[in-house]
Amino acid sequence: MAEDLNIVSGSKQEKYTSITAQIKALIDGEPDLTANLANIAAALKEQFGWFWVGFYMVKPNETKKVDELVLGPFQGPVACTRIAKGRGVCGTSWAKEETIIVPDVEKFPGHIACSSASKSEIVVPIFKDSSVVGVLDVDSDLLDQFDATDKVYLEAIVALIKH
Ligand code: SME
Repeated sequence: MAEDLNIVSGSKQEKYTSITAQIKALIDGEPDLTANLANIAAALKEQFGWFWVGFYMVKPNETKKVDELVLGPFQGPVACTRIAKGRGVCGTSWAKEETIIVPDVEKFPGHIACSSASKSEIVVPIFKDSSVVGVLDVDSDLLDQFDATDKVYLEAIVALIKH
């Protein structure tokens, strides 16, 4: 297992190509989900320097008798712990089963502001057997930081996750 990441400069695509290969190497042969999510969040945060990178996983709320998103491994400031289906960007990505890019979070109806520093966001659903089992959430403190390139590469990265 690699202990040091090779952080590259260059285009967004070059950064993703480099970090995707390193993420593959980091999680290859490691069956523990929490360990792998933690290393993916750390690798992405180190390469891109985003404000917040982390996972919310679908889990049952025994009291409410519903599934909800529960905070998982992440890098960045403390964040909201639980998100209902259809709420915020994360809950909307889960409900719609698709990646959502938000160029300006203030213009997204129902955006959940864990931090006022967050300005733009991308949320990518994680699938297992064609059901959403969690989401990857990436926040930037700059406006309009995410595009189709992020969508393609982040979707490929979450597809590497073994459950
Ligand atoms: N903004 C997200 C909530 C999670 S935090 O940003 C880490 C949302 O609207 O779902």
